[in-house]
Amino acid sequence: MTTTPQLPTADDLHRTSGEDDGLQAAARRHLWMHFTRMSVYADHEVPVIERGEGPWVYDQRGKRYLDGLSGLFVSQIGHGRTELAEAAARQAQTLAYYPLWSYAHPRAIELAERLASYAPGDLNRVFFTTGGGEAVESAWKLARQYFHLKGEHGRYKALSRSIAYHGTTMGALSITGLPSIQTPFAPLVPGGVRVPNTNPYRPMVADPAEAIAQAIEMEGPETVAAVFLEPVQNSGGCFPPPPDYFPRVREICDEYGVLLVSDEVICAFGRLGHWFGAERYGYQPDIVTMAKGMTSGYSPIGGMLASDRVMEPFLEGTTTFLHGITFAGHPVSSAVALANLDIMEKEDLLGNVRRNEAAFRATLEKLLDLPIVGDVRGDGYFYGIELVKDKATKETFDDDESERLLRGFLSHALFDAGLICRADDRGDPVIQLAPPLTIGQPEFDYIEGVLRQVLTEAGNLL
Ligand SMILES: Cc1ncc(COP(=O)(O)O)c(C=O)c1O
Repeated sequence: MTTTPQLPTADDLHRTSGEDDGLQAAARRHLWMHFTRMSVYADHEVPVIERGEGPWVYDQRGKRYLDGLSGLFVSQIGHGRTELAEAAARQAQTLAYYPLWSYAHPRAIELAERLASYAPGDLNRVFFTTGGGEAVESAWKLARQYFHLKGEHGRYKALSRSIAYHGTTMGALSITGLPSIQTPFAPLVPGGVRVPNTNPYRPMVADPAEAIAQAIEMEGPETVAAVFLEPVQNSGGCFPPPPDYFPRVREICDEYGVLLVSDEVICAFGRLGHWFGAERYGYQPDIVTMAKGMTSGYSPIGGMLASDRVMEPFLEGTTTFLHGITFAGHPVSSAVALANLDIMEKEDLLGNVRRNEAAFRATLEKLLDLPIVGDVRGDGYFYGIELVKDKATKETFDDDESERLLRGFLSHALFDAGLICRADDRGDPVIQLAPPLTIGQPEFDYIEGVLRQVLTEAGNLL
């Protein structure tokens, strides 16, 4: 008999203060949080998020926060959707696990077909992973083996943009453009090459597309396998592409025989109002990497879409893509992804983003009247707000000021005021927003209100 799970209610989850203390002590003693300075929790509480409902999440004491970053650019449809929990339970009862190594299972097949139907052009083949970094890693390996099969044995390098984040496994880390998170793990995988990004507020070069051509020439075109680009670069604080950027990059890749990988781990599944960011900016990638929003986080999955051209040598004779991951395309995650995509279609969440993005932008742009707000940029439901010391000169904060402002004040103050977003200093100091795709004007106003209050206080502290 099939039973459907009930999501826990607030009462079910209510903890006594003794239980709270126990959880805090256990977190401090045993849990290792990612990219987190653990020393902070010697004298601070670990923030514990216990449940979610729509765009809101609640901590263990019942305090509510607007989830302005969708967890980590993940929760497209919002929290607490029983349909997805039910889809997971049904699949676990039918077939909890089977690998995609030599075998297939129905949900992975259906999901692959569905993703191919959403993808632009001939991106018809899906290779699943369990997350985004693995997808990037897989794409680099695919590009390398593809060129071996084509007889172009010297092509192994991957170009990517300054400050871009593409994951933390050694291959993906070597494609990442953030020296601060690479240096402790040097030497990196050989072949990662940096090109300028498209920061519109602080342009690195006059023509960032031509800079890619120059980098290919400099490295030697016969050594370059792929260019990895996000539709909107996240790290650094939402760098949308200039209008003619991607069409020109596509031409450059064709000219030099280099594969174009669109890293859509953040930008796919409605974040920019389309299934894929490539569609929004009108370019045709050879490979797309994806993860996060595919299941809205109800279960982990990632993958890459490859074009017919890239797949073609792998369909011949004894050729095999020599790569695999035990949990990739997990049946439960595949079932959850299908249910998530059903909801996105039924509720027209792509349309919701497209209809509301101008209002979201206009609401955030109101903050430009604050002296500390230098720039508001982004597209869809994906924005960065750059903070500056002097708006007229665009002078930014030095390391010490940035440390005090972002880590010392803003992160905590925003959280205390009921907004979860990211205060990031991987490039210049920015606040990043990527809320669930379900929200509208009331939540935009809430976000603006909290930011106004906290950024005004931050300005007064300077
Ligand atoms: C563009 C991009 N690529 C890759 C990754 C890595 O994904 P994951 O954390 O699932 O490994 C991320 C994560 O934020 C990302 O933003």
